[in-house]
Amino acid sequence: MIEVRRLDAAEARGELDALAAVLVDCVEGGASVSYMAPFSHVDARTAFEVVATEVAEDSRVLLAAFDDDEVVGTVQINLATPPNQPHRGDVAKLLVRRSARRRGIAAQLMEAAEREALAEGRTLLVLDTVTGDPAERLYERLGWTRVGVIPDYALYPDGRLCDTTVFYKRLRRV
Ligand SMILES: CC(C)(COP(=O)(O)OP(=O)(O)OC[C@H]1O[C@@H](n2cnc3c(N)ncnc32)[C@H](O)[C@@H]1OP(=O)(O)O)[C@@H](O)C(=O)NCCC(=O)NCCS
Repeated sequence: MIEVRRLDAAEARGELDALAAVLVDCVEGGASVSYMAPFSHVDARTAFEVVATEVAEDSRVLLAAFDDDEVVGTVQINLATPPNQPHRGDVAKLLVRRSARRRGIAAQLMEAAEREALAEGRTLLVLDTVTGDPAERLYERLGWTRVGVIPDYALYPDGRLCDTTVFYKRLRRV
């Protein structure tokens, strides 16, 4: 049974090592999620310390997927948008550890992210993802609209260039 929960700052700090382990696993698996190889557990922990601080400042939403007590996935919504975009949020760092993939955990995380975005008054979500990776199919399946592809936007952890696809989704209150 997978449980997806929003973490407050204290919970995020309590799960720093577990969240870092998911991030390291994804980067080691070749995911282009901001970081380059070699990427250590300490690097990943530092990244999530910053996230926990932003959660404390109410500028970021952090969700985690638990399989029993183990964190197997996570996603974030950046709420730090400019004053003229109070209705928008940026989805980032959707990560599921390799051993837990293809069980619908990312889909569950994204559905929860939509609910939390609405709870924060955000009715438009934006994200970008590596063109051609499994995440692209996931976002299409979940009703996201593809804006277009930016060639050579980022690097894989090993230094190869990758294209990026930009998506958005309008959220409707139910
Ligand atoms: C992209 C990512 C988050 C997907 O995580 P996931 O939990 O495996 O995603 P889901 O299980 O919801 O969907 C993945 C696939 O499993 C399939 N699936 C879902 N539940 C399933 C089940 N019970 N049995 C069999 N297949 C299943 C889905 O249909 C989907 O198939 P597809 O790839 O052919 O479209 C994961 O691969 C990942 O962390 N990648 C590295 C980081 C990354 O690239 N993140 C995106 C950054 S924007």
